[in-house]
Amino acid sequence: MKIAVIGTGYVGLVSGVCFAECGHSVICVDNNKQKVNKLKEGIIPIFEPGLDSLVIENARSGRLIFTTEIPEAVKASEVIFIAVGTPPLPTGEADLSYIENVARQVAYAMDSYKVIVEKSTVPVKTGEWVKRTIRFNNRDGVEFDVASNPEFLREGSAIGDFLKPDRIVVGVESERAATLLRACYQPIIDQSVSFDLVKQEVIHQAPQGDVTPFLVTNVSSSELIKHASNSFLALKISYINAVANFCELAGADVKQVARGMGLDSRIGDKFLSAGVGYGGSCFPKDVSAFLEISRELGYDFKLLDDVIRINKVQRELFIRKIKKAMWIVKDKTFAVLGLSFKPNTDDMREAPSIDIINALLEEGAQVKAYDPVAMDVSRMFFQDRITYCADPYSTADGADALILITEWDEFLTMDLQRIYTSLNYPIFIDGRNCFEPMKMADIGFDYHCIGR
Ligand code: NAD
Ligand code: UGA
Repeated sequence: MKIAVIGTGYVGLVSGVCFAECGHSVICVDNNKQKVNKLKEGIIPIFEPGLDSLVIENARSGRLIFTTEIPEAVKASEVIFIAVGTPPLPTGEADLSYIENVARQVAYAMDSYKVIVEKSTVPVKTGEWVKRTIRFNNRDGVEFDVASNPEFLREGSAIGDFLKPDRIVVGVESERAATLLRACYQPIIDQSVSFDLVKQEVIHQAPQGDVTPFLVTNVSSSELIKHASNSFLALKISYINAVANFCELAGADVKQVARGMGLDSRIGDKFLSAGVGYGGSCFPKDVSAFLEISRELGYDFKLLDDVIRINKVQRELFIRKIKKAMWIVKDKTFAVLGLSFKPNTDDMREAPSIDIINALLEEGAQVKAYDPVAMDVSRMFFQDRITYCADPYSTADGADALILITEWDEFLTMDLQRIYTSLNYPIFIDGRNCFEPMKMADIGFDYHCIGR
């Protein structure tokens, strides 16, 4: 298959390289010249485990090329995935101007039948607008289909998620589009290309028949599956965070409660970790966008308001917990471990660390911080308002308290005794429930966590 992917960010780059690994010829387009030049030189602009070697190998084989030119990519491809950003507007709605802009440019360039696929996360009905935009701007009446194919990958495990997904969802209006999209994904459907999570490598093997569910729906249902899925996951997190707050009042332990709940296969044990709340480029914006499109279509989805509210309050409660542990925050020095919104990524969009550190700085505290990969990105948020350290121990050295915000493996296995002796006061405030309270007390820590 000849495939174009427009927008070479987290989703576009991972999709492009994985389609190339499946044997397709892929052209990745981005209007950020600097990014494209870097990619051409084999420099990967984001941190994503396993991504760099895969990009370099596929570019070397000629199956993956990078360009800034949409017309070149459109003319050479039959299936065109749009993977540009859909960031939040101040109203909470999704900003669809990038999608509209690309749809127009695709329409101008089309010279034969194309399937134009929304891979970006978009509100229901966007497909209708994309179709209309292409029809108005494609004056030669070239045949085309618009399809939806939401992406469910997570940052930090993106390649594994793309090549071994729980399901592939496509929303189409024609058999022809469904067949072409199935062909794009065939090696993933039959798992002839899969991913070894432990070794972090792609495996090529004989097809195993249909292993991955390939769900074909209409365009609106497919668009809705994405918003409904992300919002449900966010709801699960807000629910367990609300339960955690209740546990603190009731003298219960949220970890035990979550385990007891999760053993019920109808509930499941995933996404029941209480903490400082969800962040990232997707849950916050997608829950808001889902709420807004619901209102626009005439349904007041109040439940989602609460999901957002609980998440916001969760950060505020954590800041209050820090103040309570310290009494006075002004002029104290805090060691902050973890800046990215979750482990295994350098992404800091909507990261809880931003609100928490800003609150400490506003109170007149000093902050020393360490993150295994997100410190360069962090400098864009905090400039020189915080001090960066080389590892957890130098961060803790001479600090008045330690705050853990992101549960990187490196922190789970650090030498707690050494941390204890490095700190001025043995105050450890854990926003991710990484350690056992009894064990921490045995070491001598004044240990604070969430819902326990
Ligand atoms: P991103 O910001 O990392 O990447 C978007 C890219 O599109 C940028 O490189 C930008 O330069 C490029 N772009 C913008 N306008 C363009 C144009 N006119 N022509 C060519 N390129 C253009 O965003 P992302 O995180 O990859 O997210 C993309 C979409 O996928 C969003 O809708 C997001 O909600 C969705 N999504 C993201 C994830 C994730 O984990 N990040 C997972 C699933 C779905
Ligand atoms: C999420 C979804 O998991 C993906 O399926 C989806 O494709 C993606 O959004 C998207 O649409 O962009 P991602 O944002 O990369 O992926 O990360 P998650 O692992 O889902 O974590 C999101 C946030 O929730 C993080 O801040 C994480 O710390 C938090 N979280 C997660 C919890 O607080 N508790 C949990 O139990 C799980």
